[in-house]
Amino acid sequence: MENYIITAVVLIVILFALKNILFTNVNNVDLELEIDPETDSSKTDDVTVIRDFTPRELSNYNGFDLEKIYIAVRGNVYDVSKGRQFYGPSGPYSNFAGHDASRGLAMNSFEIENLRSWDQPIDELDDLTEIELKSLDGWEGMFKGKYPCVGKLVADPQFSK
Ligand code: HEM
Repeated sequence: MENYIITAVVLIVILFALKNILFTNVNNVDLELEIDPETDSSKTDDVTVIRDFTPRELSNYNGFDLEKIYIAVRGNVYDVSKGRQFYGPSGPYSNFAGHDASRGLAMNSFEIENLRSWDQPIDELDDLTEIELKSLDGWEGMFKGKYPCVGKLVADPQFSK
């Protein structure tokens, strides 16, 4: 009789545990890690890989040799492909495509002579006036707000002097 009672109690405990395992609603589990829906990166599948670009590598992203269009501003490289009407091969600012546009933006000029080419050292911008630097600040804010940053502009040892 005693054995019978013990077996019955053990059975009830096992059945109760099984019920909890099989029918627990996941939403009721108290997750320790709270994920802010605003910053939940698992919701987006376009993962941006941040990498370094030498001026020569950057120059390929001109919307012509490669379809994507990248522009560097103050050392950061932005994917401006969605602004193709501005920077694409027939856009008004196509000179900026695949280039470090910092000096042009600072000087309010899209002329090619204000931009470094891929075989020149990175522009240190140390001769810009305060007004030009302010103008560049404004443009940089626009790029930061509108376009994803995809990397950094780094010197190519072959052309750094
Ligand atoms: C003839 C003078 C110019 C006119 C009429 C003009 C006109 C425009 C217009 C209508 C826009 C679009 C604004 C918007 O989307 O709300 C724009 C954007 C822009 N302009 Fe000009 N612009 C002129 C000169 C310049 C110059 C000299 C530069 C050189 C720095 C420049 C650089 C830009 C840039 C970087 C954008 C932003 C494009 C983007 O949203 O990615 N513009 N311009």
